Amino acid sequence: MPSKVSCLYLLTVVCWASALWYLSVSRPSTSYVGQLNIPIRKSPKVNKNGTFSNIRARSLNPHDFGYIINEAKKCEAEPPFLVILISTTHKEFDARQAIRETWGDESTFPDVRVVTLFLLGRSTDVVLNQMVEQESQIFHDIVVEDFIDSYHNLTLKTLMGMRWVATFCSKAQYVLKTDSDIFVNMENLIYNLLKPTTKPRRRYFTGYVINGGPIRDMRSKWYMPRDLYPESKYPPFCSGTGYVFSADVAELIYKTSLHTRLLHLEDVYVGVCLRKLGIHPFQNSGFNHWKMAYSLCRYRRVVTVHQISPEEMHRIWNDMTSKKHLKC
Ligand SMILES: *[C@@H]1O[C@H](CO)[C@@H](O)[C@H](O)[C@H]1NC(C)=O
Ligand SMILES: *[C@@H]1O[C@H](CO)[C@@H](O)[C@H](O)[C@H]1NC(C)=O
Repeated sequence: MPSKVSCLYLLTVVCWASALWYLSVSRPSTSYVGQLNIPIRKSPKVNKNGTFSNIRARSLNPHDFGYIINEAKKCEAEPPFLVILISTTHKEFDARQAIRETWGDESTFPDVRVVTLFLLGRSTDVVLNQMVEQESQIFHDIVVEDFIDSYHNLTLKTLMGMRWVATFCSKAQYVLKTDSDIFVNMENLIYNLLKPTTKPRRRYFTGYVINGGPIRDMRSKWYMPRDLYPESKYPPFCSGTGYVFSADVAELIYKTSLHTRLLHLEDVYVGVCLRKLGIHPFQNSGFNHWKMAYSLCRYRRVVTVHQISPEEMHRIWNDMTSKKHLKC
């Protein structure tokens, strides 16, 4: 029935056209971009006795949101080597599509299984929720949890990713958590950093490590109120633009978060959980949380680059894949 097919096609076109219409230019960066490098002192010892353990049992932060959209069977057939979790917002239709068609393509490496997922909360805009629902029915790579999607709830989005891996993909080996405006050099990440043929690591965490302290200036995007975080320094944490960890860490962080007071800066918060767990993030110079002008040889050496538009992503990807034979 050709009419039915073309009708479906038309529907898809209309859907994408309205998606473009909805697009906004602003894409707030999700990561804290650091202050000074300050050495971090040892974390305070916790008294296991008395009231404190009762508080722990009660769960400060239950994170019991239901799934509006889930892809529960993504890992069922065969555990992936790498799960890619991409924090995204509803309007970023073009950014998600660019990632699907470039570095996020699950079928790029025939020998390495990769699962790509976009993470979302619930929008207050009914139309946007419907558009994401349709997009999800086409691509099956979106997970939506039932919390309000907002910049201040970004930490919930990261925790939702950790919870998803712990629940539906615990046999995966590694996880990359990144944003929709990041270019990832997958070849470098998989073959030079993670190395599928070597023994899987445990309690492993790496990225662009920041040793900084809270910004108390209320005008800053990274403002941290003193009553929320009184200490003068943050534990070392990896910039939210891109960090990689062994999949066992997902459950550890998720469980730790249940009794750790939420901070709206997701990367700082993950750092706080890592300190509680006694896991030290490794510095890796391949993770760039600033923009970096494109050159083939420069981008061959990186793992992540920040602030890449969907158009740039296509251009970079096409250039790199068509020039594999060139030496630097
Ligand atoms: C823990 O609390 C109990 C009861 O409050 C008390 O008897 C015990 O001495 C405490 N132990 C420590 C190590 O503080
Ligand atoms: C975060 O999500 C929760 C749960 O949906 C909601 O109650 C809260 O208002 C949201 N916070 C912000 C700042 O949007």
